[in-house]
Amino acid sequence: MQIDILTLFPQIFQGPFSEGIFKRATSRKLVQVNIHNIRDYTHDRHHIVDDYAYGGGAGMVLKPEPIFEAVEKVKQNIHPREGDKGLPVILLTPQGRLFSQQIAEELSRYSHLILICGRYEGIDERVRQHLATDEISIGDYVLGGGELAAMVLVDTVVRLLPGVLGSEASARDDSHATGLLEYPHYTRPEVYRSWSVPEVLLSGNHSQIAKWRRQQSILRTLKRRPEMLDKANLNSEERQLVNSLKKS
Ligand code: 6GU
Repeated sequence: MQIDILTLFPQIFQGPFSEGIFKRATSRKLVQVNIHNIRDYTHDRHHIVDDYAYGGGAGMVLKPEPIFEAVEKVKQNIHPREGDKGLPVILLTPQGRLFSQQIAEELSRYSHLILICGRYEGIDERVRQHLATDEISIGDYVLGGGELAAMVLVDTVVRLLPGVLGSEASARDDSHATGLLEYPHYTRPEVYRSWSVPEVLLSGNHSQIAKWRRQQSILRTLKRRPEMLDKANLNSEERQLVNSLKKS
């Protein structure tokens, strides 16, 4: 997958993308991330990227021209692959649709993504209307800009790409991938400060362990995120368990 990110603050992206699974994915050529400075697409002497809002009011607005030109330049170097179902141009904005594991899975099926990070008070509306194909927010709070949101999106999508994680099972069992929160994990020592690992995990009985983990996932989801259970894939026995626990 190739990901092109347009931003006014390219330096912000230096750290996160050169560590951990990301570094591995990049060196294995599973993903390539290119950072573009929107300011490089201005033509005036002062490289101005923002201007006053028509109609007045406080706060500057990002001008459309450098953003359109940056996206068009990036597109010139993209050669569609067989099976591509379009090229998403995603604007990161608190007004976008709410990001989720499902949207990450959807995006992971494209061979190419273009991300535009907004800043300042806003972005000229014509960017939304005539350039972006999608708008995404990572949550109901306001960040100083789209950069951190872009990193969240990229991190979430990249770990879904085939070959990026050590074992395919670890992404499949993730909290949210299953519609349930993950079960508790333990490692050595067996007793730490008098707190012991649950007996069943030491039993070597794999079907009992799987059953315990599944129950723990359901209980934990019911306690912490009950609304997730409405959409979770539960068998009829598990549904009954949830319904009786809800009542008690
Ligand atoms: Cl994508 N951008 C900004 N500025 N704030 C946000 C956001 C994005 N998602 C949640 N808050």
